[in-house]
Amino acid sequence: MPRNSPSFSAIAAFATASFFVLLFVLHIFFLDSVELLRPSPGSEPQHTEAPHVEAPHDDNGEPWRRDTREYILSPSWDVHAPPQKRYYNWTLSEISANPDGVWRTLLAINSRFPGPLVEANEGDTLVIDVHNQMANSTSFHWHGFHQNGTNFMDGTVGVTSCAIPPGSSFRYEFKADFLRGTYWYHAHFSTMRIDGLFGPLIVHSPKETIGMEYASDRVVMVQDYYHDLSHALLPTYLAPDNENAEPVPNTALINGKGVFDCSKVKEPYRCDASKATLEVLDLEKDKSHRLRFINVGAFAELDVSLDEHEVSLIEVDGVEVVPHPMNRFRINVAQRYSIIVPPRPAGESFWLRARMFEHCFAEIPETLQPEVKAIVSYSSSAAKTPTSKTWADSPGLECKDMNTTEVSPLHAIEAPKMADILIPLRSNFEIGAYRLSRGFFNKTSWRPSQTPTLLQAIDGLATDNASFVEPQNTVLTSAYDIKRQLVVKLDAGKVVDLLVDNFDDGNHPFHLHGHKFWVLGQGKGYFDLANYNSLNTTNPLRRDTVTIEAFGWVLIRFVADNPGMWAMHCHLAWHSEAGMLMQFLVGADTVKTWAVPEQVQNVCAHPEMQRGGPLRDEDFYW
Ligand code: C2O
Ligand code: CU
Repeated sequence: MPRNSPSFSAIAAFATASFFVLLFVLHIFFLDSVELLRPSPGSEPQHTEAPHVEAPHDDNGEPWRRDTREYILSPSWDVHAPPQKRYYNWTLSEISANPDGVWRTLLAINSRFPGPLVEANEGDTLVIDVHNQMANSTSFHWHGFHQNGTNFMDGTVGVTSCAIPPGSSFRYEFKADFLRGTYWYHAHFSTMRIDGLFGPLIVHSPKETIGMEYASDRVVMVQDYYHDLSHALLPTYLAPDNENAEPVPNTALINGKGVFDCSKVKEPYRCDASKATLEVLDLEKDKSHRLRFINVGAFAELDVSLDEHEVSLIEVDGVEVVPHPMNRFRINVAQRYSIIVPPRPAGESFWLRARMFEHCFAEIPETLQPEVKAIVSYSSSAAKTPTSKTWADSPGLECKDMNTTEVSPLHAIEAPKMADILIPLRSNFEIGAYRLSRGFFNKTSWRPSQTPTLLQAIDGLATDNASFVEPQNTVLTSAYDIKRQLVVKLDAGKVVDLLVDNFDDGNHPFHLHGHKFWVLGQGKGYFDLANYNSLNTTNPLRRDTVTIEAFGWVLIRFVADNPGMWAMHCHLAWHSEAGMLMQFLVGADTVKTWAVPEQVQNVCAHPEMQRGGPLRDEDFYW
C-alpha cells in the first residue's frame, strides 16, 4: 500500500541518482576471476525407467487427502545410488475437498491435496510427466533449481515457457544439479499455485553435511489458506482504488491439515470438520529429528515455534548452516528452514505452532484463525491434546526475515569482493481512480507476454536484432515493452548487485530464479552508500528467497553464471500477479544457440494456452 511522503521521494531521487553514478564507476572494475557457484557438469545419468509409485493411502472417507506419512523421508533412501532418471506421472484435476472442514474446489495432483513428495539425489534427472485434465492451463516451476542448460523447464509462464493447455501433456526433464537440501515445486501461472498445485522437492547428496545427528527426517509444509479459489479473489484485489488491500487468508494449514470452526462459516460456504484433524508428528523418544519447513502459502509470513523445545536451525533454502539455536523462527512465503528437534523422553506431547503475522494484513476479519497447530508426540501413549506452554517471548509485529547476520553457511563461499554491476530497483505499488492496483519494479509493471520473453530473446539474438544484441549489461529498453517487461541483459560471469528499495508498506519475499545469491544486507529505511565498500563478503548467508521489509531495503549479490532468462519477483501470489516481476537475460551468446523444444512450441501455439491465466489485458484500464 503506497503512502509515500514527499521526503521519501526526495531521498529516493537522490539515492537513485547516486546509484547510477556508482553504476558507471563499477563498470570500470572487472574482476579477473570469479568463484563460480556452479562447477562443470558431471557424467550422464543412467536410464532406469522405474516409475515412482505413490505412497500407500489410508482413505478414512477422504479420498482426496494425501496421507502425510508420505512426507516422512524414507530411512532406506540410497544417497549413494548411481545417477539415474526418476520418473513421476501426474494428472491434474479439480477436486472438491474440505481440508479444514470448509468445502472448496482445489487443484490437485493425482487427485490429492497437498502435492506428492518428489525426491532425487544430486546429479539425478527428474522426469515429470504432467497431464492437464483441469479446465485451465497451468505450468510447474521447480523452486530453487538452477535449470542449468534447461531454461525451458523452468516453467515460468511468459518468461521461459507457455502454460500447458487443458487436455495436453508436458514432460519436464531436468537435472538436480549442483544443489541439495529442501526445495519445492509449484504452479507458475497466475495465482493458481495457491489453489493446491505445490509440494516438496528434496535433493539428497552425500555432500550434505549437517552439523548434528538426527534419527528421522520429514517435511512440514506451512501455509496461509483461503476458502476461495484464487481467481475468485483476484478481481477485487486488482480493482481500482483498492489501496492494494490483499485478500486476507481465512486460516493456516500444516501439511494440508487444520480444523476450522464451522460455527463461523456462513452461506454459501459449507463446513463439516468432523474428519478434519491437526497434523501429528510422531517422533521417536530420546532421539533428535529433522523437520524441513517450507512456506507454501500465498501471502502470510508465519511465526513457527515448538513448545518447550529449543531447536537448531541447520538449513536455509538448501544451504546448510552452522547449527543456530532458537526457540522460534519466522518463515516467509517460499522460504525453507530445516531444524533439529532435540531428544525428549517417551510419553510427552507438545504443540507445534504456526501463526500468521496478522499485523501485515490489510484488515483482520473476525473469523480469522491466525494460528494452526500440529502435535509433536513421543510415543503413541502421549496425550492427544498436549498441555505444553507456548514460549513467552513475542514474535514481533513486523513482517521481515529473522536476523540472519549470525547464520553462516557450513560450507563457506566467499562473495566476490566487488560487483561488476549495481542494479538499483525500487519496488512500489501504484493505484488510483480508473487504474488497477499494480506492482512495479521501477517503471515496469509486469504482464506475462504471450510469447515468452526467452523465445523472443532467442529469436532476436539469432537474427542479429540490434535491440537484443547490442545492449550490454543493461536494461533492454527497445527489445521489450518497458511498461510490461523489465529485462536486464547480463554477460555470463558478471557479478551483480541488486539493491532494492521498497516504497511500499508491505513486505516482499523476493525470489531469483536460476541462481542463489548472497544476502549482503537488509534493513529498514535506506541503504547508506557510505557502507558500500565495507560490506561483509566473508561467507554471508546464501539463499534463494529474501524478504524486503516495509519501507526497507535489501542488497543481494550473485554471479550471473547460468545462461537463460530468469525471473526475479515477489513471491506473494497477489504481488507477482499484480506485476512485481523483472527478468535477467544471462549469457546471450549461449542463449542464441538454443533451439526451442518441440513441446514448448506446441503449447505456445495452442489456442487455449492462456486459459484461466491472468485477467485479460483489455480488462486493464491503463
Ligand atoms: Cu517459487 Cu518464480 O517461484
Ligand atoms: Cu510483494
